Amino acid sequence: MVNYKDLGLVNTREMFKRAVKGGYAIPAFNFSNLEQLQAIITASSELRSPVILQISKGARKYANPILLRYMAQGAVEFAKSLGCKHPEIVLHLDHGDSFELCKDCVDLGFSSVMIDGSALPYEENIALTKKVADYAHQYDVTVEGELGVLAGVEDEVSAEESHYTRPEEVIDFSTRSGVDSLAISIGTSHGAYKFKPEQCTRDPKTGRLVPPPLAFDVLEEIEKKLPGFPIVLHGSSSVPQEYVDIINKYGGHLPDAVGIPEDQLRKASKSAVCKINIDSDSRLAFTAGVRETLSLHPEYFDPRQYCGVARNYMTDLYKHKITDVLGSDNKLANCD
Ligand code: G3H
Ligand code: 13P
Ligand code: ZN
Repeated sequence: MVNYKDLGLVNTREMFKRAVKGGYAIPAFNFSNLEQLQAIITASSELRSPVILQISKGARKYANPILLRYMAQGAVEFAKSLGCKHPEIVLHLDHGDSFELCKDCVDLGFSSVMIDGSALPYEENIALTKKVADYAHQYDVTVEGELGVLAGVEDEVSAEESHYTRPEEVIDFSTRSGVDSLAISIGTSHGAYKFKPEQCTRDPKTGRLVPPPLAFDVLEEIEKKLPGFPIVLHGSSSVPQEYVDIINKYGGHLPDAVGIPEDQLRKASKSAVCKINIDSDSRLAFTAGVRETLSLHPEYFDPRQYCGVARNYMTDLYKHKITDVLGSDNKLANCD
């Protein structure tokens, strides 16, 4: 049993309180490799932003759970070496799908876990989430639950259509499950294809797809029911067209990829939404950097040459999200 506090990590409790009060959101960036982690820590440390490092079940399998945990521990020291004396880094399980997986992460030194029972019947979701919360809270590990189902694929949980969170359920769910934060469904969705072209309109000037707006009325109702309670948005990549264009220019094929417009995320960040999950945008930035570099330099064969460019693209992306979208820069309790 390793406690996250011994690794220099923090849970989400204090940072969420400050974020809800301050009208900004904490970035929750997924990682599964060295370059992503370097880019996340470089961006968040330089900008003095709290940050949540997320690991999905698939990422654990890909990169090895032990290795990822030590990488997160190393991230704290890396942040300090970059001049950020008091980093606030959370190690979070993304979309945990069983009590056993959540327990394993708590025991391994994670400071926060998500138990995603959103595809279960309501009472089963409460019972599973409560079991995880009761275990995690013994070690002061914070727990995220989910109510409402996002369209698209949620790890191994698939849903044909989006079911918005029902505001009339949120008080009962959060009270009885004991969660510290609640992921809701208001129209975001996972991946780089969040909406079908027929759900969108087209910008006559650019020909780009314009997705339907998020259900801010549902968010407002939820906030009224649970004043000040930390709300989480999954599926919040914006699918930046500059990366999609680079990928398509250099041999990729991502027609009509579309995400959540950043002005909508900016608006959400100012509300009780205090954690915004971004994974696909980082994948796009990485792939754009690799494809472009290999196409322009067919003589390259050292991964550091193209992964280095990809890492720079991701660092720029994370900095942009922190500063221009979520507003979490200079929000450490101690910015020295
Ligand atoms: O919400 C899903 C995350 O983007 C993780 O995706 O299961 O492919 O690692 P993954
Ligand atoms: P995106 O696919 O929009 O990046 O969402 C990531 C996410 O919700 C991780 O849990
Ligand atoms: Zn998610």
